[in-house]
Amino acid sequence: MDKPFKVSDRHNDLMMRDAKHVLGWRYQPRVIFESGSGLTLTDVDGKEYYDLTSGMMCMVLGHSHPELTETIRQQATSLVHHSSWYANPLIIEFAELLGSTLPGNLTVVNFTVTGSEANEVAMRMALGVSGKYDIVSVIRGLHGGSLAAESVTTVGGARRRNLGPLMIPSRANTILAPFCYRCPINLSYPDCGIACLDSSEQMMEAVTSQDVAAVMAETILVAGGMIVPPPEWLPRLKQLAVRWGALLVLDEAQLAPARTGKLWGFEHYDVVPDIVTFAKGMSAGMAICGTVTTPELAQRAAGKAGVPWAGTYSGDPLSAAVALKQLQIVLRDKLVERAAILGEVLREQLESLCERFDIVGEIRGQGLYRMLDIVTDKQSKRPDPAMAERIRYNMMEQGLVCICVKNFIRICPPLIVTRAQIEEIVARMKTAIERGEAGLPKGINFTTSSSLAAGEQGAHGRAD
Ligand SMILES: Cc1ncc(COP(=O)(O)O)c(C=O)c1O
Repeated sequence: MDKPFKVSDRHNDLMMRDAKHVLGWRYQPRVIFESGSGLTLTDVDGKEYYDLTSGMMCMVLGHSHPELTETIRQQATSLVHHSSWYANPLIIEFAELLGSTLPGNLTVVNFTVTGSEANEVAMRMALGVSGKYDIVSVIRGLHGGSLAAESVTTVGGARRRNLGPLMIPSRANTILAPFCYRCPINLSYPDCGIACLDSSEQMMEAVTSQDVAAVMAETILVAGGMIVPPPEWLPRLKQLAVRWGALLVLDEAQLAPARTGKLWGFEHYDVVPDIVTFAKGMSAGMAICGTVTTPELAQRAAGKAGVPWAGTYSGDPLSAAVALKQLQIVLRDKLVERAAILGEVLREQLESLCERFDIVGEIRGQGLYRMLDIVTDKQSKRPDPAMAERIRYNMMEQGLVCICVKNFIRICPPLIVTRAQIEEIVARMKTAIERGEAGLPKGINFTTSSSLAAGEQGAHGRAD
């Protein structure tokens, strides 16, 4: 009989209290973390794990980065929060620095607290500017869990159950994802000529009111399966938006800064959006997100549809100080280049797992953000969420924390990861996959773990 995950009495007690009093998504086992440093998370028993989630994709510089810790300390003694109807020097500097990293004239930032809120603001801007109501989004995209963001979120699972009719703008999730591994129209790239976009436009004609305020997309559709569009897809999506008199909104919550080997993920493509949203990684874990647009569009939207949007905490000096410092470090330490170089190392190493195991269908992603598509076998490409969860569990045993939703296992280490660490991580992953393939551990019920609970079979539905 295989040994289950061993924890101390204290750990077990905390797990039970967490289950009783905190309503939240949890993987099994409900490991309780106490500290973090660099790439490492430590649980209450002192067991160390490599954090392949960078928190919730936020800790670009790893945990407890000394310079960020010092920034928090200093700013906490100076000013933590003030009315968001006034400003502070840090939020101005952060907005200016963000604008300086963006192409085009994307220089005006409406700060928010969450990525969902940033996308809500983007939709408000598009409605305000255009006076139209439909937002067209990409099927398999995720833009957040607040109800308007949920309307344009289409990652499947059960997250919309019991929600009833969703908010406007929600009429038109009509753009087919450029998911070449499982092509939605059964063609092959590049011979397809990106026919998925032609079909999508026909659906737009039929399904929308034909008054389209915005086309909304993740640059790479992460939660929906780490779908990296072919080079011509995003430029063609932009042309489509222009044809329809709609704004192009790109959601970079999962990608910026630097994760993909470019500061902004869309820099891989020949396209400049009208509005871009940022969250997670840009926030340094301090819940500072936002929506960037041009001065012209900001002016046209002002006073309409609730723009500019001001929440209680948006632009707080403490979070601004930390996010600003993090972005300065990302630029100073050339982490864009680092993510590009080490991303290739990660890709090559993971490809070796794909070659070795029939249940690893494909490795997708860009830079230091990769995903394993777990299947019953390469030939059928049939998704195998139960096996993915088994592998995730084994990865925990091997001291690797990752996010797994449905049959997708994501590898998203802090950008400070070294080549040696990548090699060690992939070696441990190999052991975890071997154990998963062998049906180990035995006697564990995985079905309540978030990765399965969030999938088609479960009663719930998060897929961040
Ligand atoms: C691409 C994308 N956009 C928006 C969001 C929502 O961000 P938040 O959870 O901060 O509201 C997520 C969350 O995972 C995301 O992946």
